Amino acid sequence: MSSRTSAPASIFILTGAGISAESGVETFRDKGGIWSKVRLEDVATPEAFMRDPEKVQAFYNARRASLKEVAPNPAHRALAKLEADYAGTVTLVTQNIDDLHERAGCRDVIHMHGELLIAFCAACGAREPAREALSPQDVCPRCGKVGTMRPDVVWFGEMPYHLDRILAALGEADLFVSIGTSGAVYPAAGFVAEAKRAGIETLELNLEPTEGSFQFDEARHGLASVLVPAFVEEVLAGCWG
Ligand code: NAD
Ligand code: APR
Repeated sequence: MSSRTSAPASIFILTGAGISAESGVETFRDKGGIWSKVRLEDVATPEAFMRDPEKVQAFYNARRASLKEVAPNPAHRALAKLEADYAGTVTLVTQNIDDLHERAGCRDVIHMHGELLIAFCAACGAREPAREALSPQDVCPRCGKVGTMRPDVVWFGEMPYHLDRILAALGEADLFVSIGTSGAVYPAAGFVAEAKRAGIETLELNLEPTEGSFQFDEARHGLASVLVPAFVEEVLAGCWG
């Protein structure tokens, strides 16, 4: 990547499970990841929820409970510092359903796959905080139906949230940074190609090369807890390269 003497005016950041890995949150496709232990067709599709709601609720209840055991790591904190201290625009889009960006201090996080700590009613759309376990016996606080409260998580086959806002922000960006994602799930996996079509500089920060690494102007491989703070320091110092 060409070295720059001034920080970019607008940075679009996409994060995936890898940014939370060092906090102790399991990723999906690493060795021993979630999808090597449970079939996504059994727990992360609308059909699964209709077929066996107990199993789906148990899968997300366990992940929700485990959030109490984890904390933000230096990568999350570095992005909060960037959001707070950077003179330009920072758009933070995450595929993650945990709340670690918020707990690190980020104030505007776009959760394109939803949030584990929110429940919504599949019948009427009512949303409420989901601090504890959800069960098929839950009653919707708005429509009164039983068994319709589900995790507010976007499943395979469902449309991601906030796509219009995300693509508008991507179109305005000067730099696209992908952090801790395998680039296996669309539409997030397509953002780098969209950025390149728009002539935007692209940077990948990931533990190891991904199938999409070749598309990036620069790819840095290593731990997010090391790469992300270093990247933020470069940007806040007014130069990165
Ligand atoms: P996709 O085709 O975009 O996902 C591609 C990747 O997901 C595959 O490479 C594979 O790794 C995995 N995958 C998808 N379906 C699979 C299957 N039947 N068996 C094994 N692996 C499978 O997935 P999609 O159905 O088009 O998803 C569309 C949207 O669903 C995504 O854009 C995303 O917003 C959402 N989503 C959410 C979750 C979640 O748990 N939050 C999981 C996946 C997808
Ligand atoms: N530092 C940086 N990167 C890491 C680290 C780390 N400490 N640990 C793992 N990674 C990288 C892995 O190399 C991998 O490329 O993070 C990536 C995690 O990829 P996935 O497990 O596929 O997670 P993600 O890309 O977020 O999955 C996308 O798929 O199942 C759906 O909706 C779900 O949001 C998820 C989407």
